[in-house]
Amino acid sequence: MEINKIYNENCLKTMAKMPENFVDLTLTSPPYDDLRDYNGFSFEFKQIVKELYRITKKGALVIWVVGDATKNGSETGTSFKQALYFMECGFNLHDTMIYYKNNPMPTSGKRYHQHFEYMFAFSKGQPKTFNPIKESCKYNGLANMKNRGQSGELNYKKVERTNEKKVGNVFFYSIGGGISTKDTIAYQHPAIFPEQLAYDQIQTWTNEDDLVYDCFMGSGTTAKMAAILKRNWIGSEISEEYVEISNKRLEQYLGVFQAV
Ligand SMILES: C[S@@+](CC[C@H](N)C(=O)[O-])C[C@H]1O[C@@H](n2cnc3c(N)ncnc32)[C@H](O)[C@@H]1O
Repeated sequence: MEINKIYNENCLKTMAKMPENFVDLTLTSPPYDDLRDYNGFSFEFKQIVKELYRITKKGALVIWVVGDATKNGSETGTSFKQALYFMECGFNLHDTMIYYKNNPMPTSGKRYHQHFEYMFAFSKGQPKTFNPIKESCKYNGLANMKNRGQSGELNYKKVERTNEKKVGNVFFYSIGGGISTKDTIAYQHPAIFPEQLAYDQIQTWTNEDDLVYDCFMGSGTTAKMAAILKRNWIGSEISEEYVEISNKRLEQYLGVFQAV
């Protein structure tokens, strides 16, 4: 099938063209809880998860970026229900990561401001690739690490420290006009995720030449960052209008990496 292309169709149709064990990473943000109607399209969640499992390579991941709406005074809990269904279909819930928004829309009423969405990391078996994002540590050199054994005793072991450590599983992003992306055209879509989020997830779970899929491509964020990182990519987007936006946005990046 043709790669480095957005298929203007229901993602179920695109996935039906893919063989089993095909994709190295799916990074996506589904339409959730009728929060926005994205030009009126709905999605068949259970079928989509089953197909995602089929097309995902052994050791590959699906990163599912999702939050809950509040309806009739309660958060819907849809994100949790979806996570449990992914597990029912055979995925491991490898890591419940958090997409923390430094500057969210203020929430009114008796609730704290909604600062985060989940980035569920579902894996098909043990992850085959992990290129962690690192930050510098305060102290270098050798150190004694201690942990408690089963009966509570302290065990010491000498480990070599480097001047870097992997970051935690809460990723912090500032969002909004001119920040999530500099591509003004992207804001014609109502719900983009930040480019840096896509960059970080693609970098972590894939290597150059791998294939990244986004079943809900929206404004093309995943495709753009995959191209910049020299990964191949495929997208599905049901709305013609959003495919046009994405293709315009991607024009300058399409030549960045040509598949072999
Ligand atoms: C949350 S948005 C994705 C935004 C994207 N992450 C970005 O940064 O622009 C979800 C998208 O899924 C699309 N969509 C809804 N149902 C779909 C389906 N069954 N197949 C493909 N796309 C669908 C909507 O039109 C919408 O653009």
